[in-house]
Amino acid sequence: MKISVAGTGYVGLVTGVCLAEIGHDVICYDVDKVKIEQLKSGHLPIYEPLLEESIERNIRAKRLHFTSSPLEAYTQAEIVYIAVGTPEKIDGAANLDYVNSAAKEIATYVQKDVIVVTKSTVPFGTNKQLKELMNAHKRYPIKVDVASNPEFLREGSAVHDTFHGDRIVIGAESEEVASVIEKINEPFKIPIIKTSIESAEMIKYAANAFLAMKITFVNEIANLCEYIGADIQDVANGIGTDQRIGKKFLRAGIGYGGSCFPKDTHALLHLSHNFNYPFSILESVIHVNHHQQMRLYEKAKSMALSFFQKKVVVLGLTFKPNTDDIREAPSLRMIEVLLEEGAVVTVYDPAAMKAVEQIFGDRLTYAKSALEAIEGVDAVFIVTEWDEIKEISFSSYLLRMKQPLIFDGRNCYQVEQAKKYPVTYVSIGREDVICATLSNTYTIQSAP
Ligand code: UGA
Repeated sequence: MKISVAGTGYVGLVTGVCLAEIGHDVICYDVDKVKIEQLKSGHLPIYEPLLEESIERNIRAKRLHFTSSPLEAYTQAEIVYIAVGTPEKIDGAANLDYVNSAAKEIATYVQKDVIVVTKSTVPFGTNKQLKELMNAHKRYPIKVDVASNPEFLREGSAVHDTFHGDRIVIGAESEEVASVIEKINEPFKIPIIKTSIESAEMIKYAANAFLAMKITFVNEIANLCEYIGADIQDVANGIGTDQRIGKKFLRAGIGYGGSCFPKDTHALLHLSHNFNYPFSILESVIHVNHHQQMRLYEKAKSMALSFFQKKVVVLGLTFKPNTDDIREAPSLRMIEVLLEEGAVVTVYDPAAMKAVEQIFGDRLTYAKSALEAIEGVDAVFIVTEWDEIKEISFSSYLLRMKQPLIFDGRNCYQVEQAKKYPVTYVSIGREDVICATLSNTYTIQSAP
């Protein structure tokens, strides 16, 4: 089956490459010529484990091609996946400009009956609108069908997730269309759920909103644990063992970020408002997460600490480990607030230094490693749990920092371990370990 994929962002690229991996003949198309040239020569424009090897393998096997020519991509295509971005508009709605222009371009060039499969996360009703749009723009008397096939891939483990997903959702108007997409996906050997287009569109938003809610719920429980002296890791384990709740996505921390949960929760809220439906839980999730991102900083403030003219390091800048993505990352707000307070801020991340430098320029110092970053500093804020950061031992903090004041937004260490050292260790939803000498060593100073 000849498959074309529109868009070589992380969803498009992973989709195209994995379809080639299971034996399909795939052309990945992007309007960005530079990116396409990069990909043709085997260079990956994004950081995604396992992807580069798979691209090389499938280019060699002649199953995977890259092009910036719509003519080459679409004229002979029988199946086209749309996997372009749907960024957030100022009012929270999903911006469909890229999806619409991809659909128009497909309709302009395609010469055979085609099924257009939407991977991009789009609001309810979009697939049917795309069908109308393509019928209005097609140049040949061909049949255009649409299907919704949402992705459930996590950045940083997208290839793994493609092969080990819990389900593949296919929303189509007819069994005939659904079974074509089912056949394409059969080699993945993942359970397939066939639904209407509307249900498939809803499944994607509902899944992301639910996961965002699950994280937010556990974060609120964590905050409460701090007041009553409970430990969120024990509590998460205690509730997660109940299979109706499940253990995954119960890691408390300083809130979710990324290119998906923030955007999709806003879009779903916007959609519900369009129907005059007050989606109160979702509204609270968004609100609580916004506050949670500042939780560590607020804890520091509640200890009457001032970072004015103090050397502070922010460790981990991406919205989660194993990605280079800093979109909606809690680190960005943390850096901003520390700078506003007059701190001298050093940052370190294994994959996002360039991206952060583009935003903050010479307002920050950029370290070359996690260990170098903590050298001589007054306080550390851990925002992302990269392995390199988790591997820093308490003895290293003690040896290298001016004073061992550690704020851990991802609960990277065990509290019992911290207690064995003369450090101040403050995390989320667990007992704070306060070093007896903190007030002596740390000049408690008011900002001007
Ligand atoms: C998310 C979903 O997990 C995917 O299923 C979905 O396909 C994708 O969005 C998408 O819509 O494209 P992703 O944003 O890559 O994937 O990352 P996650 O691993 O879900 O993490 C999102 C955020 O939640 C991160 O900031 C992470 O630190 C945070 N998180 C996650 C927690 O704070 N606690 C947890 O227990 C899990």
